[in-house]
Amino acid sequence: MDLQLIGKRALVTGSSSGIGVGIAEMLAAEGASVVVHGRDAGRLQAVHDRIAARGTPVAMARGDLAIAEEAQAVAEAALGAFDGIDILVNNAGGSSDEEAKSWFAVPLEEWTKTFEKNVVAAGRLIHAMAPAMKERGWGRIIQISSAAGTIPTSAQPDYGPAKAAMVNMSLGLSKALAKSGVTVNTVSPGMIHTEGLEDFLRQFAARRGWGDDLAKAADYILQGTGQTVDRIGRVDDVAYAVCYLASPVADFVNGVNIHLDGGGSSSIY
Ligand SMILES: NC(=O)c1ccc[n+]([C@@H]2O[C@H](COP(=O)([O-])OP(=O)(O)OC[C@H]3O[C@@H](n4cnc5c(N)ncnc54)[C@H](OP(=O)(O)O)[C@@H]3O)[C@@H](O)[C@H]2O)c1
Repeated sequence: MDLQLIGKRALVTGSSSGIGVGIAEMLAAEGASVVVHGRDAGRLQAVHDRIAARGTPVAMARGDLAIAEEAQAVAEAALGAFDGIDILVNNAGGSSDEEAKSWFAVPLEEWTKTFEKNVVAAGRLIHAMAPAMKERGWGRIIQISSAAGTIPTSAQPDYGPAKAAMVNMSLGLSKALAKSGVTVNTVSPGMIHTEGLEDFLRQFAARRGWGDDLAKAADYILQGTGQTVDRIGRVDDVAYAVCYLASPVADFVNGVNIHLDGGGSSSIY
């Protein structure tokens, strides 16, 4: 299937590690010109060089999206790289703490930080890029939320609500951009195998006295998710969904939230 992404210009935030790398690499493999983004200069350069080595047009934008001036600089660098952005993937984010802290153990300042780097960061880039997409009559905005956004747990009261806000924001924005040719959709991953997840599993196993048995920790957590697919998600699982939503062939899909969680969602939508 031809996803018709050749020549499209994409910014993937948070593509210096984890899921964002996979999204950026797959969009590039499909022929898009990609701006990779992150804060860590070394990791960002490495991802850039890997994509460039394949001969695909790629550029870098570095900065902390939780800081208004840096987010503005990131937007300007990305818009300048290929003279515009057609596809914005708001993937940067995560929780403020590596460990899943219990509800009352998360200080309120962390709530603010988590909202800044997930919700406000996405809003900043939307403000910077959506008007030009609308004017051109074509664009794609894809937000990476989380299963935690629609399946609240008794931990991380900063993270789940922030990710829920992203789903809400996407649907509202799809209505604000109605009939403009710009679609706005969300992908909500469950547990996805990244280095960050490995760190989390390592800490989880150590706390329970399981040593370095990451498989045991993963299995334990997997049982609790109610997944109907018996494996942890892969970065490519998310990247495939994003590439589809980013493509012209998905122009009838607007305002949806794809639950990419191995069947772990316990609702009918
Ligand atoms: N992995 C999972 O199981 C999972 C599940 C559900 C949802 N998600 C969501 O998927 C997205 C990617 O997660 P991941 O697991 O791939 O995480 P990750 O490996 O920790 O990568 C996060 C990326 O976001 C960037 N980032 C974080 N805070 C930033 C900020 N304030 N300003 C600019 N960039 C920032 C990081 O940049 P630097 O490292 O360069 O600083 C990095 O490139 C996140 O939004 C996360 O909430 C992940």
